[in-house]
Amino acid sequence: MANYEPLIVKDDRILLLNQKKLPHIVEYFEAKTVEDVCFAIKDMVVRGAPLIGIAAAFGVYLSTLNTRSIDSLKEQLEYALLCLSKTRPTAVNLFFALDEMKKVFSFDLSLSDNISEMRDKAFEIWDNQKKSDLMIGVNGAEFLKDRGRILTHCNTGSLATGGIGTALGIIKTMNKKGYLESVFVDETRPYLQGSRLTAFELQNEGIDYRIVTDNSCGILMKKGLIDAVIVGADRIARNGDTANKVGTYCLAVMAKRHNIPFIVAAPESTIDKNISSGKDIVVEERDETEVLKFGNSFTAPHGSKALNYSFDLTDNSLIAAIVTQKQVYERFEF
Ligand code: MRU
Repeated sequence: MANYEPLIVKDDRILLLNQKKLPHIVEYFEAKTVEDVCFAIKDMVVRGAPLIGIAAAFGVYLSTLNTRSIDSLKEQLEYALLCLSKTRPTAVNLFFALDEMKKVFSFDLSLSDNISEMRDKAFEIWDNQKKSDLMIGVNGAEFLKDRGRILTHCNTGSLATGGIGTALGIIKTMNKKGYLESVFVDETRPYLQGSRLTAFELQNEGIDYRIVTDNSCGILMKKGLIDAVIVGADRIARNGDTANKVGTYCLAVMAKRHNIPFIVAAPESTIDKNISSGKDIVVEERDETEVLKFGNSFTAPHGSKALNYSFDLTDNSLIAAIVTQKQVYERFEF
């Protein structure tokens, strides 16, 4: 079994498991500065809404090291918050973590106390995520215990949260409780979070799985092979509209067509209380080369253009339940 702690904190640097190289190369990216963390988030060395937030929190902490006065710490902090907030727009957990870190700063604390409180807060955000994941796992597994054949999309496991995961955490918990029969893993073009990362985690857990192409959901559902779809979320609006990895909406529509429950799993911090519906969610558009290539090789004719939305929006009416650490919501009025 491979050891794959997604983030390791050393005194003055953080090591981020390089998710671009998994599953065949297990290598850590060393972040010594907040700019390194910004690069890692933008370039998807580290990814998954909650883990982006946790990495950003430690990025803020790194920015406070080597400051010599409260004023320079304040300046560094503002710079770090700005730089990190510009990395990826959709995952609300990033902004949640930055807000939490911002609240720590106080002119009433000494320089060293400010720095150690920043470090403690970053660990607290991470610990809370680990605890939330466990409860999401329990709540989701009980809700789905009679539906053992699961289809999932993207990667929502340890590599995305730093805990056991959200949607994948439910799958792992169902497996431990003996509720799981089979898992189908969407490969998740273009970045292959499913076939590279989810498969890596399931294999490490000793859970049997089948990787399927993203467009297999129709045949799988029509053949009656799927009892439930479980996905994660990058941002959930007050009415339950959900932004998640591109392809999620297609799955939700197809699940509705086949009368299969479509479940979203996320910590409460993914619910953005500031927005009433999905219309207000900014969907990240990434570089077209990610689509024009398969892995490192260009597959499209040279000169082709592509459109690369990284996420899509699923209407609340397509979602049967949203599972958080607190409860299973079947009505969405957050
Ligand atoms: O672009 P990514 O890989 O960061 O997208 C990840 C997802 O869409 C996940 O489903 C989401 O962040 C939830 S992770 C628990």
